[in-house]
Amino acid sequence: MLSLQKFQSTTSLLLLARLASCSNIQWSRCKEGEFNTTLSLQCGTLPVPLDYTQPNSSMTFNLEIIRIPAPVQPSRGSIQLNFGGPGSPARGDAVALGPLLQQLSGSAYDLIAFDPRGTGRSIPFICTDDSYHIGQIISQVRSSNDSDNALRRLWERAKADNYICQRLGQGNETAEFIGTAFVARDLISVVDALGEDGMLRYWGFSYGTTLGATVAAMFPERIDKAILDGVQNPHDYYHSHADFEEWVDTDEVFSYYFTSCVEAGPDKCALASLNKTAVALEQDVWNFFDVIRAAPIAVGSDVLDLIGLKSFFLGQLKVSAGWSSLSQFLLALVYGSQQGPLLEALAQALAAGSPDGPANIIPVQSLWGIHCGDMIPRMKLFDEAVAAADRLGKTSRLIGDVVTWNMVHCNQWPWHARETYMGNFHVKTKNPILIASNSRDAHTPLTSALNVSSGFEGSGFLEVDGTGHTVLNVPSACSFKAMVAYWVNGTLPSPGSVCRAPHPFDSFTWADIFNDAMSTNVNESTERRAEFQRWLY
Ligand SMILES: *[C@@H]1O[C@H](CO)[C@@H](O)[C@H](O)[C@H]1NC(C)=O
Ligand SMILES: *[C@@H]1O[C@H](CO)[C@@H](O)[C@H](O)[C@H]1NC(C)=O
Ligand SMILES: *[C@@H]1O[C@H](CO)[C@@H](O)[C@H](O)[C@H]1NC(C)=O
Ligand SMILES: *[C@@H]1O[C@H](CO)[C@@H](O)[C@H](O)[C@H]1NC(C)=O
Ligand SMILES: *[C@@H]1O[C@H](CO)[C@@H](O)[C@H](O)[C@H]1NC(C)=O
Ligand SMILES: *[C@@H]1O[C@H](CO)[C@@H](O)[C@H](O)[C@H]1NC(C)=O
Ligand SMILES: *[C@@H]1O[C@H](CO)[C@@H](O)[C@H](O)[C@H]1NC(C)=O
Ligand SMILES: *[C@@H]1O[C@H](CO)[C@@H](O)[C@H](O)[C@H]1NC(C)=O
Repeated sequence: MLSLQKFQSTTSLLLLARLASCSNIQWSRCKEGEFNTTLSLQCGTLPVPLDYTQPNSSMTFNLEIIRIPAPVQPSRGSIQLNFGGPGSPARGDAVALGPLLQQLSGSAYDLIAFDPRGTGRSIPFICTDDSYHIGQIISQVRSSNDSDNALRRLWERAKADNYICQRLGQGNETAEFIGTAFVARDLISVVDALGEDGMLRYWGFSYGTTLGATVAAMFPERIDKAILDGVQNPHDYYHSHADFEEWVDTDEVFSYYFTSCVEAGPDKCALASLNKTAVALEQDVWNFFDVIRAAPIAVGSDVLDLIGLKSFFLGQLKVSAGWSSLSQFLLALVYGSQQGPLLEALAQALAAGSPDGPANIIPVQSLWGIHCGDMIPRMKLFDEAVAAADRLGKTSRLIGDVVTWNMVHCNQWPWHARETYMGNFHVKTKNPILIASNSRDAHTPLTSALNVSSGFEGSGFLEVDGTGHTVLNVPSACSFKAMVAYWVNGTLPSPGSVCRAPHPFDSFTWADIFNDAMSTNVNESTERRAEFQRWLY
């Protein structure tokens, strides 16, 4: 969902306008060609304070906002969206996911998203736009388990990257102003400017759940409804040296890939044609990781190395819709000739998913800017990084050695956000929020969702017995009904209930769900119908 952007420099003069006297958002048509969609869209800007801790300062910048009007008008109000990262601009994702989110909110609400400060068009955070320095930053992106001194190199490289950002680049201009607490205040500023009922409706995914938990804890009286889907542990996010808990289920989901592949059989999963057990298939891939660690291979303009391959896998675990194609890639890569068009396609996918890929280098800097600035503890000694890397590796063999890259940057980060939420997330919001999680999520485990749910008194819980990152990525008639009932009526799922979901290698889409759920004139093969009934909750 990340879009390629040209490196653009931030100039303070351009970004900091004086606070306009009228605080309402002026909506107009979006720029021609900015979004490729048939949705009717409106774009608007809202000046907000650069620094909420300086109430008398006139320094502001414009939040760039998009609105997708509800199909059914007059709407019941607006829902604000955030798709996580942190570091992802939200407007493009809102447009891409708009039609789905409209269905899941009963077509009754306008959907609103702004590029959060630090991202996109609002007020970007960019360490440097110097191509030489960018090259230096990405030159050392590697697994901390690549070689004996790899972690030390990463630690020193992070120091150098942070130096580039602070001393040679543009970090100082915005680094302290892009933290999550300020984005939470921006959400409320937008509510105030909308002039509806003064209440926040919010839908956040992944890191967007940390933002959601933060705004709900800071402004409990302003919450009408909120869904937090694919939940991060916000205690970890602010108070740990790394997001340890995020990866506790990653290896299990990785194993589950092979289990469900064998279950699905060779028609749906090419790897199953090898007649091996799931355990044997997984072991082959682990062995292949070792091969690539020792001998990376050039594919097109890229070198396929351990971090690239592992990052690719992590990305693939987000959405099971791609699992069938993944099995074809693996068949070619692990058991095949490691050449040919399939591998070139893989190389492109790797470049797209890799943190040093062209599409990701800006969001990666934004992620550092936001997450590192929010993180309260920092390290003084390399030994602490060794301990944290060890813990990450023990948490997930698949991804522990990959996510050390952010850990070494954040723990030496030169800035702290001007404001950080310091509470304990034990809050009773005016109206109950809804926490949502799949049973198997390689990025945000169920346990984190339970953790947040235990803090928000009276909150509801939606568990989907599916696999993927966020329930949005697991089509399910049951979760569809639950989300619509929440948005439209405020109804919470009955406690302890779990939504069933299709097998990950079944190719069900949300469109199937909507057709099946809404069709009064059902015309489907009985087999398909039976399959649908099997998991219709
Ligand atoms: C716009 O979207 C359509 C449908 O998804 C796609 O076929 C087309 O290539 C897109 N155009 C551009 C310029 O991205
Ligand atoms: C802001 O301005 C008001 C009114 O002039 C003043 O009373 C207050 O002390 C100022 N606050 C700060 C933080 O400067
Ligand atoms: C950013 O601020 C730091 C600390 O005040 C200073 O040492 C550094 O020179 C500044 N960077 C730039 C590019 O001005
Ligand atoms: C796998 O088993 C099937 C059915 O027994 C057989 O037809 C096929 O040849 C076997 N494939 C391999 C690669 O052993
Ligand atoms: C590093 O790689 C070795 C060999 O594959 C493995 O045993 C170990 O668990 C890995 N450590 C981490 C932290 O990933
Ligand atoms: C939530 O997570 C934090 C950080 O890991 C932990 O300290 C706390 O005990 C957890 N709370 C519950 C209720 O599990
Ligand atoms: C909302 O509640 C009304 C009244 O109980 C009911 O008729 C309607 O079906 C509910 N709508 C949804 C989407 O649950
Ligand atoms: C059901 O769909 C099939 C295949 O698309 C079609 O041939 C048939 O006419 C349809 N039946 C009805 C009653 O619409």
